[in-house]
Amino acid sequence: MSPSAAELLRWYDRHRRTLPWRALPGQGADPYHVWLSEIMLQQTTVTAVIPYFERFTQLFPTVGDLARADADTVMGAWAGLGYYARARNLHACAQVVARDLGGRFPDTVDGLRALPGIGPYTAAAIAAIAFGRPVVPVDGNVERVTTRLFAMTDPLPRARPAIARQAAHLNDDPLAHARPSDFAQALFDLGAGICTPRTPACALCPWRDACAGLRQGIAATLPRKTPK
Ligand code: ADE
Repeated sequence: MSPSAAELLRWYDRHRRTLPWRALPGQGADPYHVWLSEIMLQQTTVTAVIPYFERFTQLFPTVGDLARADADTVMGAWAGLGYYARARNLHACAQVVARDLGGRFPDTVDGLRALPGIGPYTAAAIAAIAFGRPVVPVDGNVERVTTRLFAMTDPLPRARPAIARQAAHLNDDPLAHARPSDFAQALFDLGAGICTPRTPACALCPWRDACAGLRQGIAATLPRKTPK
């Protein structure tokens, strides 16, 4: 049995996390909020990001406000989140969007990818979540879900391209295509809440019947890693 988007989305509709950058069900997300949250979440947990996200959106309600702020104010608001290159790129990106793009974020993966601080994962996440592009952003959560679902035992980092190809196939389901934003966020929530690194809650998983890793009794051991 292959994993069905319908099952994942039904689970998401019941269990979705309320997060400050998330749109309410049925509403569109603000691209500025999605971008800001994705940059903050790059090396930082959801719990740590929430108060910073709240402070940034109070201090800088729009991308134009962020662009016009001075660098010291932006770095001060970021203090404590770490990886300070992210804050410098964040400010540079806001300035490109505000000055060159009329305050609007590009709505394609390639357009987003061209901006400072936006790599392939972040471009895919923003394109899916904010603009409904049918792409699967592959972060650590999605890698874990994918390797387990398909019992992929080849170790990281070598397996990364194959995992990305498999993850992209999750999108072949027309229902995933119909709700790309929810589908991407459902994968994040599944990885964060059910398909967790050490003791996955397989009994509660909407994809338990489709999961080859569970069937083979190896889910919790995946993804494997090449010893350093
Ligand atoms: N991790 C990365 N992006 C996320 C998002 N939009 N929601 C929850 N967790 C995430």
